[in-house]
Amino acid sequence: MPNCRVAKLPRRLVAVLPKKGPTMSAPGRVIVPLDVPTLADAVALARRLAGHVAAVKIGKQLFTAEGPVAVRAVHDLGLRVFLDLKYHDIPNTVAGAVAAAKSLGVWLLSIHASGGGEMMRAAAKAAAGPDRPLVIAVTVLTSLSEDAHRAMTGTPRTIEEQVLHLAREAKAAGLDGVVASPREIRAIRRGCGPGFLIVTPGVRPADAALNDQHRVMTPAEAVRAGADLLVIGRPITAACDPVAAAERIAAECQLPGDQ
Ligand code: C5P
Repeated sequence: MPNCRVAKLPRRLVAVLPKKGPTMSAPGRVIVPLDVPTLADAVALARRLAGHVAAVKIGKQLFTAEGPVAVRAVHDLGLRVFLDLKYHDIPNTVAGAVAAAKSLGVWLLSIHASGGGEMMRAAAKAAAGPDRPLVIAVTVLTSLSEDAHRAMTGTPRTIEEQVLHLAREAKAAGLDGVVASPREIRAIRRGCGPGFLIVTPGVRPADAALNDQHRVMTPAEAVRAGADLLVIGRPITAACDPVAAAERIAAECQLPGDQ
């Protein structure tokens, strides 16, 4: 793929990244969501950020509007893609979707842990092989309150207990990691060990607006708690200078062991 930018990634990530395959990269731990409605908007934003962020995230809005061309356009700019479509279906269907995402060359993709062990194993199997994407599981959506979660699942577990339970299931199914809110990072890191990827949204620099995020951590706090990758949108995309904002945050996220 053209315009590759050489990676400087945290050591923990270097250990789990595919040796070959989607090798486009940029420094750090920050993933910026392309939460925009059109391909033109996405390309304009990605072009500014290329070389300054670890990856960009393409989610349901952009992918539904524009499809795989959005992934290819971002790859052409030399950026990795986190395809955040949160697959949740019968195992055979999820395996097909993961295989299709793999053929697009995405670096990271998401499924729902609540699809069950068989579905997660099918996803891991579909992703396996050379040039494989990393597959991570969404545990419990952070939009759910304790009451809503209890009413929906009927489980006596707290959300934190459920998140840890699902993270262990994801690990046992052979997945690479989970998406989790900042408040669950420590428990997952303790329960699932150092090689398990933790990707967290809900991160805000100390001087940034909270927007609609609650219970946030700063980038430094999230990384110290054990997060590997941070999904940070508006503090970067709405800044007067998105590149300067991304670089400030990346610097805040550096740990002594980072390469
Ligand atoms: O602008 P902001 O930093 O809030 O964007 C965060 C990104 O992470 C958005 O793409 C949002 O959809 C996603 N996200 C989130 N909270 C979750 C899961 C995903 O904010 N619990």
